[in-house]
Amino acid sequence: MITVRKATNDDVDILQKLASELVPSSFKGVLTTAQIDFMLDKLYSQQALSDAIGAGTDYFIATFNGEDLGVVSVIQQGPNLFLMQKIYVNEHYVGKGIGTALFTAVKEYVRSKILPCTIELIINAHNPGLEFYKKKGMQKVRDTGLDMGDFFINEEVYSLELN
Ligand SMILES: CC(C)(COP(=O)(O)OP(=O)(O)OC[C@H]1O[C@@H](n2cnc3c(N)ncnc32)[C@H](O)[C@@H]1OP(=O)(O)O)[C@@H](O)C(=O)NCCC(=O)NCCS
Repeated sequence: MITVRKATNDDVDILQKLASELVPSSFKGVLTTAQIDFMLDKLYSQQALSDAIGAGTDYFIATFNGEDLGVVSVIQQGPNLFLMQKIYVNEHYVGKGIGTALFTAVKEYVRSKILPCTIELIINAHNPGLEFYKKKGMQKVRDTGLDMGDFFINEEVYSLELN
């Protein structure tokens, strides 16, 4: 059974462990090892996670048969605008509905905050997960770039309107 819970400050250890397991496998073939390490340090160190929660980022953890196997986060960026960071699911458990459960949790959460609203996602055109988001109704709205300090990645913004 899949359950999704909203993370609290007490979950920072779990979030850090999940990210260190899931982010490298998700970006295999998309980013270099150095880029992945930089990203883990910048976004998923315990300090970065704790700061992000303090600054209003909400993380959701998906549990499948008692094991924490997926994560997603979302932050409000404007009166009616939310930025969802990519969904990460343990590579041994893809295709079991965990990604859908996390996506649904984010939609329900933002709906409960404000409607109508827009969820945006920044994703690389070569990301193998892109088809998942398209299947969920997200559509490309513009190009963008991610400044990661030491390097710059060309990305695309996908969007979903909720009414
Ligand atoms: C992409 C990802 C988040 C989707 O989560 P998931 O738990 O596997 O997705 P679900 O089981 O809920 O699948 C929902 C639907 O999307 C489809 N789907 C999932 N991943 C897909 C993919 N990469 N390409 C095409 N379709 C995909 C499923 O086949 C399913 O289709 P159906 O409703 O017709 O049966 C997950 O596969 C993942 O983390 N993959 C790791 C690598 C990756 O691509 N990461 C992207 C984020 S950086």
